[in-house]
Amino acid sequence: MNAPLATLSVASATPMAVANATVAVQACASLSIRDATGADIPAIQAIYAHHVRHGRASFEEVEPGVDDIRLRHAEVKRQGLPYLVAERGGEVLGYAYASAYRTRSAYRFAVEDSVYIDERYRGQGLGLALLAALVSRCESGPWRQMVAVVACTASGEGAGSLALHERVGFRTIGRLQSVGFKHGQWIDTVLMQRPLGDGEETPPVERAARA
Ligand SMILES: CC(C)(COP(=O)(O)OP(=O)(O)OC[C@H]1O[C@@H](n2cnc3c(N)ncnc32)[C@H](O)[C@@H]1OP(=O)(O)O)[C@@H](O)C(=O)NCCC(=O)NCCS
Repeated sequence: MNAPLATLSVASATPMAVANATVAVQACASLSIRDATGADIPAIQAIYAHHVRHGRASFEEVEPGVDDIRLRHAEVKRQGLPYLVAERGGEVLGYAYASAYRTRSAYRFAVEDSVYIDERYRGQGLGLALLAALVSRCESGPWRQMVAVVACTASGEGAGSLALHERVGFRTIGRLQSVGFKHGQWIDTVLMQRPLGDGEETPPVERAARA
């Protein structure tokens, strides 16, 4: 199912975040935010591999191969969660997906987001468009909280991700200090959180059958 940005409804995002996502569409008429397919996996792997090799946003230190990404994509879809790509002119420019925040059953209404943009296209509104769409899609499902685990270093890495999540209505919950070490530097994780739909205001709706 394709989800055109122009029709996104992000209930609790700031009005400016939604406006920005719409502006991104207007600025790049051919940009589409849609569900990832099997054909997108090699491009997704290439985008992620760059960030694993050169950045600290991911705590992985050896990039997974195409087959690994294919399995991860399949697991996200098996759980009924969204896995989206930003595509323009047939090229995948970035992707975002939601996964279980933690696996034990009481966590089943909490998801974690991941967003990665091709290094060449950062800072063009794609992360905002993808994350706004991801929130919108999760709000149409049973999930009630979205968590972001943002890697931050003393040298300022992570500032873009913090800004992005704030724009989409996340607030900072806490900071774990020096829980990561990669490329010779300690890394903190900043936990951010955003309610989805009714959040904690109403009881969740259990899904009838869970695989
Ligand atoms: C973080 C990331 C997803 C942001 O996506 P992006 O397309 O580059 O960001 P956008 O252009 O959509 O910007 C969204 C908002 O964040 C802000 N922002 C983006 N990069 C920023 C930076 N380096 N410093 C400060 N603010 C920044 C933008 O200014 C914008 O806010 P604004 O509308 O108020 O100006 C992308 O840069 C990326 O892939 N980074 C490496 C991987 C990563 O950190 N992923 C997140 C894992 S949780």
